[in-house]
Amino acid sequence: MCGIVGYTGGRSAAGVVVDGLRRLEYRGYDSAGVALIDDGELHQVKRAGKLANLESALDEAGLPESRCGIGHTRWATHGVPSDRNAHPHLSNDGRIALIHNGIIENFGQLRGELEADGVRFSSETDTEVAAQLLGREYAADGDLTKAMTRVCARLEGAFTLLAVAADDPHTVVGARRNSPLVVGIGDGEHFLASDVAAFIAHTTEAVELGQDQIVTITPEGIAVRGFDGSPSEGRRYSVDWDISAAEKGGYDTFMRKEINDQPAAVADTLRGRIDEAGQIVLDEVRMSDQDFRDIDKVFIIACGTSYHAGLVTKYAIEHWTRIPCEVELSSEFRYRDPVLDRSTLVVAISQSGETMDTLMALRHAKDQKARVLSISNTVGSTIPRESDAVLYTRAGIEVSVASTKAFLTQLAACYLVGLHLAQIRGIKYADEVGAVLTELVAVPDKIAAVIEHMEPVRKLAREAADFGRVLFIGRHVGYPVALEGALKLKELAYIHAEGFAAGELKHGPISLIEDGTPVIAIVPSPRGRSLLHDKIVSNIQEVKARGAKVIAVCEEGDDIARVHADDVITTPAAPTLLAPLLTAVPLQEFAVELATALGRDIDQPRNLAKSVTVE
Ligand code: G6P
Repeated sequence: MCGIVGYTGGRSAAGVVVDGLRRLEYRGYDSAGVALIDDGELHQVKRAGKLANLESALDEAGLPESRCGIGHTRWATHGVPSDRNAHPHLSNDGRIALIHNGIIENFGQLRGELEADGVRFSSETDTEVAAQLLGREYAADGDLTKAMTRVCARLEGAFTLLAVAADDPHTVVGARRNSPLVVGIGDGEHFLASDVAAFIAHTTEAVELGQDQIVTITPEGIAVRGFDGSPSEGRRYSVDWDISAAEKGGYDTFMRKEINDQPAAVADTLRGRIDEAGQIVLDEVRMSDQDFRDIDKVFIIACGTSYHAGLVTKYAIEHWTRIPCEVELSSEFRYRDPVLDRSTLVVAISQSGETMDTLMALRHAKDQKARVLSISNTVGSTIPRESDAVLYTRAGIEVSVASTKAFLTQLAACYLVGLHLAQIRGIKYADEVGAVLTELVAVPDKIAAVIEHMEPVRKLAREAADFGRVLFIGRHVGYPVALEGALKLKELAYIHAEGFAAGELKHGPISLIEDGTPVIAIVPSPRGRSLLHDKIVSNIQEVKARGAKVIAVCEEGDDIARVHADDVITTPAAPTLLAPLLTAVPLQEFAVELATALGRDIDQPRNLAKSVTVE
């Protein structure tokens, strides 16, 4: 949700900032802009639309070389995507430029106050009030850091702000409340960004800022202060992502590359999670074994694809631990007064670790004294920082807005959490946990096998593109997989796609079936839980009888599904609870191929953003 970059040092600021924005474009692509300082002058260029528009405008502008600047890529909240509403925003005298990620909730009141003071506004954004306030405060003493401190004291809401001043040509000042901001430490140069991806081409040394901190960077150093002005510090760490992780690696889209990254990402997430005593180890734990034993209820909170990972996890947690588990969308959880206490474990799943709905739900849970365990792909992000225990997925950077490898690694991490709970509470012995883990570590090779046989999936997707609507059905863990398959298709292809619990078809959705409607059925293994298998085969027959064209995603050798469906996509055998790690994969490719056939933008679908830091 808006990507921001700041740079000061010896290189071309425009080059570093635009390169950083390219890596942050997943956060929003409604408009982009930069402000560059050179020789006491501030130059600003901004354009509606994708970063490419800004790049052309910069080429045309032919600005003098600058060594200090800021840049922004926007996901619009206040004000339509337009040149005018693009960031940066300037103070009335044109000497201060500011960019923002988040929402300033009291902007109406501040705008009224500033307008009464004679300030003229040139956009409809909430951000411009911060730029104008900063201009007024800076005029008072010419100290950008102090001026930013006074501005932050007036703002309510969520914000990361970066600012530069024409009269302070080597300084960028940043402020952070509720939205992410990291510092990149270079040799004679420093970076600020929403995400390390913006600067890992230049440095892997970073400082993560805490809540309510202000940072000042110059080529020589960084200084961190609290919002009260007192000296403070961020947490220094080394980023272990490799720049190649943020490149397409020969694929036509990031999404295809990330689908192909999945075997390694899942294997990495599972690697080294067991200690000598056979116990699963979390990355960070600020609660005791006894706290885990006292848990009598689990709530999983998440949004989007992460919510679907949570739905799968419910089946595993209840089966393995016998603890009741509910899954709820973060945005609903917070506002409905859930029953929570010290013996409730809230599991927050968030790839970015910054999703505002999940962060606010987490804080609500903590206010009620619940324990929070988070699963995130972003080390040091806000959600893990505010949790009592953390397990990191090791998907590496995920650039495509529609999530793939983050989802699979979340599933892997969620299984580990379920096993950890079962083990610590004495429900499962080490050898039983070991048996599940043996199955789990065999999964990455099976995912690779699924990926190698995608051509039939692509053919089916191209055929379905003509129909313009696809339904997905599943039972048990196949139901969340159906929801995820439909979400992928909605996100990428902009067509009507919906997932249903197969048993619910007869209670309404079956009326959607007409001649030729593509229905993708997620079929459980015919081994073991054959009752479940029988039931979905009946559901396949029900929709076929009404004209549906059924594609069954089923286990290799499932001859019954093959007889009843029009087409099959097979996946290697796996235990029922773990099967989503395999069955979700062809649905990702199906969505990419169908959306490609419709000419859609795969990595940056319309209206979406990868990291949603507004509620
Ligand atoms: C956005 C993204 C989704 C993602 C969801 C939750 O909507 O487009 O792909 O699943 O946010 O994000 P999180 O970072 O909390 O997992």
